[in-house]
Amino acid sequence: MTVPASRHVVIAPSILAADFSRLREEVQAVAAAGADWLHLDVMDGHFVPNITFGPALIRSLRPHCKLPFDVHLMIAPAEPYLAAFAEAGADHILVHPESGPHLHRSLQTIRGLGKKAGVVLNPATPIDSVAWVMDLVDVVLVMGVNPGFGGQSFLDSQLPKIAALRRIIDATGRHIPLEVDGGISLATAARVRDAGADALVAGTAIFAAPDYAAAITGLRGGSA
Ligand code: DX5
Ligand code: ZN
Repeated sequence: MTVPASRHVVIAPSILAADFSRLREEVQAVAAAGADWLHLDVMDGHFVPNITFGPALIRSLRPHCKLPFDVHLMIAPAEPYLAAFAEAGADHILVHPESGPHLHRSLQTIRGLGKKAGVVLNPATPIDSVAWVMDLVDVVLVMGVNPGFGGQSFLDSQLPKIAALRRIIDATGRHIPLEVDGGISLATAARVRDAGADALVAGTAIFAAPDYAAAITGLRGGSA
């Protein structure tokens, strides 16, 4: 099953690949270039072997960008910090099942904070880890790489997982974006869209491109 060509493909630039010394301008530039969401990668040096930023940076960017903030938590435990990210201005809060013992409760907490709740599946994480909480899920994110760093190569092993999740989402009858993060380039974006994804995170493919608008349109498959 594939996403109909007419469906809008959401593009979420990851600021991980932006110039941090000019973050406000970078965020405004991708918004002006047609981005749909802004993807913010929060890493703690424990759940993943890299450290980025926390709620303070998200709070400082919030007044300068109207796009929904898609906050990807690569921290463990995540539960104690959910309220802080909600208050900082996150619109979507995405957690990995491995980041705590109670995924169902975390999703309830995120919904209770008035935010959209997301589950992120690592390359080795089975589809079953989200299957029994679909009623609490607003976004499903499939990692195309092991989380922690930008600029890695997409793992083709994840394409059947994307297709299987597309079927599970369609069976719910709800509109739940199926997002893919990591290794998204012009070439892999087409395969990922064909597998059924309708939201793409891209760091390097956008922020290393000379023309952000052209990069975003290209990733979308030209259906801007
Ligand atoms: C990786 C992050 C990604 C990363 C993607 O852990 O979750 O969002 O920024 O970077 P690219 O698009 O360069 O693979
Ligand atoms: Zn991410």
